[in-house]
Amino acid sequence: MMRPMVKADRQAVLELIRATGFFTEGEVQVALELIDIYLNNPEQRDYYIVVVENEQGQVAGYLTYGPTPLTEGTWDLYWIAVAPEAQGRGYGQQLVGWLETEVKKHQGRLVLIETSSQPKYQPTRKFYEKLGYAEIARIRDFYRPGDDRVIFGKYFRSKE
Ligand SMILES: CC(C)(COP(=O)(O)OP(=O)(O)OC[C@H]1O[C@@H](n2cnc3c(N)ncnc32)[C@H](O)[C@@H]1OP(=O)(O)O)[C@@H](O)C(=O)NCCC(=O)NCCS
Repeated sequence: MMRPMVKADRQAVLELIRATGFFTEGEVQVALELIDIYLNNPEQRDYYIVVVENEQGQVAGYLTYGPTPLTEGTWDLYWIAVAPEAQGRGYGQQLVGWLETEVKKHQGRLVLIETSSQPKYQPTRKFYEKLGYAEIARIRDFYRPGDDRVIFGKYFRSKE
């Protein structure tokens, strides 16, 4: 079951982001900043956040996305995380499916995802490739020497 995030989910989402062990405290704080912009400004249209629940109704994963500023039809997948014990059960795929449905509804053309070239992100890159995303750009030594910014993208055809 998927639904837009609400204030009552804040703690559970924060815990699952930390539980992945993937993100530095600085990254967690940036993820949290977007969460708070979303939760505290219902009228804003820059960030959207959805959560997926497990069979017990607990939050198992979350996704932040939004239209890329100053573009026509490009969208960013900003953050995605699934709780470690819930990974590999299709929740991540469901979250990206939600994003793609929304993007198509808004005549979006392109979804971009930024990630790191570090070996620990290899499973994450495999996940994106499995979902039809391909590496379309890379900035060498972006995050730190030896750690590239890798940009994955997927184009959607317009229905003409
Ligand atoms: C990346 C992540 C969101 C994937 O979510 P998930 O719920 O585990 O993934 P799913 O179960 O939906 O997997 C979807 C498909 O991707 C494949 N996949 C997922 N993880 C994979 C891995 N480690 N290696 C290879 N394929 C993988 C699955 O096999 C599945 O394909 P299938 O249906 O043919 O089996 C999750 O593992 C996660 O939160 N990772 C840590 C945080 C992170 O990396 N976030 C992104 C930061 S840029």
